[in-house]
Amino acid sequence: MTRPSPIVAPSILAADFAHLADEVRLVEPEADWLHIDVMDNHFVPNLTIGLPVVQSLRPITQLPFDVHLMIDEPRRWAPAYADAGAYNVTFHVEACDNPVALAKDLRAAGAKAGLAIDRDTPIEPYLDLLPSFDTLLVMTIKAGFGGQRFLPELLEKVRQARTARESGHLELRIEVDGGIADDTIEQAAQAGADAFVAGTAVYGADDPAAAIRRLRALAASGVVGP
Ligand code: DX5
Ligand code: ZN
Repeated sequence: MTRPSPIVAPSILAADFAHLADEVRLVEPEADWLHIDVMDNHFVPNLTIGLPVVQSLRPITQLPFDVHLMIDEPRRWAPAYADAGAYNVTFHVEACDNPVALAKDLRAAGAKAGLAIDRDTPIEPYLDLLPSFDTLLVMTIKAGFGGQRFLPELLEKVRQARTARESGHLELRIEVDGGIADDTIEQAAQAGADAFVAGTAVYGADDPAAAIRRLRALAASGVVGP
């Protein structure tokens, strides 16, 4: 059985925004994707960065951008992130009344399409949509802030998604976001996740590159095939 190699995506939400380019370069040798959290103070009660920052960062690194939109009206904004060169653009199901249409728009704009499920949203109603997506992001906290405690009960959604991926023979990355660290990443991998966002665990470490290597090794020991 082939085991998918785990993706580790450091979140720049935990980086020093005054030195963003340096912070990106710090993780570039080890990271698989760069996770960029866009928040609008409407969908979540926090405000971060938006399109101009993504556009400014795009030329300074080769890393694929994994853009996580925690915003209202993703249909209005998301395609511009694909146009700006994002590799994957993920929007929240709670904010979108036609997720499949937006997934098509994103793919047409050259990006992978990602669907995010927040803490209080069940996954069952959305399992049928997964064939239209490349990435499913299962929040393992309530979206909005870094540095929160990992909620292991949310891994049940990862297990359900994994079953749907297997039975549907889907090419789908199952990504977890929130509280991912040395002591939580293995259980997330065992549940079926194969992409791991880590903010505090990477940028809060003395050696962020070493932290990514350690997380990847721990994830690889937990990742289950196919
Ligand atoms: C929070 C963001 C996360 C955040 C994770 O809503 O989506 O990506 O950066 O931070 P940690 O890894 O610190 O939980
Ligand atoms: Zn995120």
